[in-house]
Amino acid sequence: MGTRAAAPRRLIVAITGATGAIYGVRLLQTLRKLGGVESHLLISSAGWLNIQHELTLGKQDVHPLADVVHSVRDVGASIASGSFATDGMIVAPCSMKTLASVAHGLSDNLITRAADVTLKERRRLVLLVRETPFNLAHLRNMTAVTEMGGVIFPPLPAFYNQPATIDEMVDHTVSRVLDLFALGPALSPAWAGLRGADE
Ligand SMILES: Cc1cc2nc3c(=O)[nH]c(=O)nc-3n(C[C@H](O)[C@H](O)[C@H](O)COP(=O)(O)O)c2cc1C
Repeated sequence: MGTRAAAPRRLIVAITGATGAIYGVRLLQTLRKLGGVESHLLISSAGWLNIQHELTLGKQDVHPLADVVHSVRDVGASIASGSFATDGMIVAPCSMKTLASVAHGLSDNLITRAADVTLKERRRLVLLVRETPFNLAHLRNMTAVTEMGGVIFPPLPAFYNQPATIDEMVDHTVSRVLDLFALGPALSPAWAGLRGADE
């Protein structure tokens, strides 16, 4: 009997048009730094608007951060099929429009198709949803994605680690997100407990 080569580790990263483009870009930078994971990148047109506005970056800066870049319109791409093995998908940040599309299984572009495939193959889908305040449609859509097995992960900063900079806040969130995929040793330090909290 022949031996089968282990499937390469692959993650799909999509950046959509909610504020917080830095989360998607930092995810790509972190994956590059860690190595060993083939990243597949998708950026919506509204995602590009925010990358340019918030980070003053262009395609020449962001595309080289990924191993494979797909057009959002290319619904015939490898990642549109469940037969293409991946470890899952992260949408960072995830707009309410993309959330709604995923919640309703629309598959109306390659981002929402890849998310649909990730859910149908029972792989990990993590949505860094960003809006405030939420209306009932947003809340219902988050519930629907959770019921389908997706993880709703709003990028809310933590303060218990006493971050001194925005970069530290972003890194903390990105580490927690990547730890959900168990790609290697944990990136975010385990909370050791507060001493003397009940004294
Ligand atoms: C500067 C800017 C900030 C935005 N911030 C948000 C946001 O935080 N959350 C959200 O759901 N939509 C936000 N939007 C609106 C989305 O970009 C818009 O709904 C878009 O159609 C989303 O498309 P996409 O999901 O294909 O990227 C923002 C738009 C702009 C231009």
